[in-house]
Amino acid sequence: MLIQHYQNSNKKKGDYPDELKSILDFEDCRLAYDEIKTWNNYNPTPLLSLKKIASKIGVKNIYYKDESSRFGLGSFKALGGTYGVLKFLYNTLKKEVGDEVTIERIRKGSYTNLISKLTVTTATDGNHGRAVAFGAKLFGCKCQIYIHSEVSSGRQKAMESLKANVIRVSGNYDESFRVCINEANKNGWHIISDTSYESYTKYPKYIMAGYTVMAKEIGEQLKNKSMPTHVFLQGGVGSFPASISSYFWQEHNTNIKNVVVESELAHCLIKSAQNNTLTSFKIKEETIMAGLSCGKPSLLGWEILNQSADHFITIDDSSITNTMRLLYNNIPKIESGESSVAGLDALIDLMKKNDVVKKIGINKESIVLLFGTEGATDPEIYKSIIKG
Ligand SMILES: Cc1ncc(COP(=O)(O)O)c(C=O)c1O
Repeated sequence: MLIQHYQNSNKKKGDYPDELKSILDFEDCRLAYDEIKTWNNYNPTPLLSLKKIASKIGVKNIYYKDESSRFGLGSFKALGGTYGVLKFLYNTLKKEVGDEVTIERIRKGSYTNLISKLTVTTATDGNHGRAVAFGAKLFGCKCQIYIHSEVSSGRQKAMESLKANVIRVSGNYDESFRVCINEANKNGWHIISDTSYESYTKYPKYIMAGYTVMAKEIGEQLKNKSMPTHVFLQGGVGSFPASISSYFWQEHNTNIKNVVVESELAHCLIKSAQNNTLTSFKIKEETIMAGLSCGKPSLLGWEILNQSADHFITIDDSSITNTMRLLYNNIPKIESGESSVAGLDALIDLMKKNDVVKKIGINKESIVLLFGTEGATDPEIYKSIIKG
């Protein structure tokens, strides 16, 4: 259910600003796509059309980018964390070995001995850690993952099955991140985080560039079709919504309206927008949308969203499981995890709230793009939700 709505008065119109190009520019996105499309098992994920649901709630169409099959990891995060690990190995080896190092040689296993001595680390709610663990296993370095007390044991096991050493820390995501930074400094490990802060921006940039592969694919999938009028982007630290809104701005410079959706229980992005400065939110209770449970925006993600987002909204957990079942019962069946349905959940409720819908400008002619950012990333929990 929709809780808050805020219209962003800092939204910029016109060309993509130069100051944002230093965070994420089209060339970074192109390089990420050119690399990722060469990986084994790379396939564009489906862009589905939810015609029935669209007509029921009163919009022209809903596109749903279904990330549940991405690289067999169950979420879009595989595009970012894995690419981040590869870029880290490339930058490190280039310094140690010299200019002969190429990404292709790394992929082909030319430096296995050197790589095996390196350790990458991150804090995670599950999906990003899984992507980093996958990258570490794929390219042969060690991996140390920090999770907080509420991360499900299914998500922990998924990372352990990729050979990561997973440490559970008491407290929430922000605390697990603090421990990760301390341990990395003490042990000489290398943080590959999906969130950025003042002294740490390099790898989050690559990770955001990796996420834009989804937007690139959508551009191809919608060739000769109408572009969406609105895109709903669920935010945790904000790297994901920032990357997609940035890409569409750069590629199409259209009037697509970006609506950032957060959990009311972790609403650091809307709070930052309302305060017109990056602001943390103290998480008191965990949302069922585990991937969105972040109390501090990514610095770079926030800088983009501050200018690219048209609207920020928050939702509570009350209808998330119903929305998951709605997609499960769709034809074709869609496997959609808790964080994945945030956009659809928000849209359905929004259509019942005439005043907010008017402000966002959604009507029967609107085409809404949603991102199904994860599948059943914890199969046991997913099964129990679907059974009802
Ligand atoms: C499934 C899922 N959707 C959306 C997000 C939000 O991404 P970000 O934290 O970059 O805003 C996450 C983050 O972990 C996630 O796991």
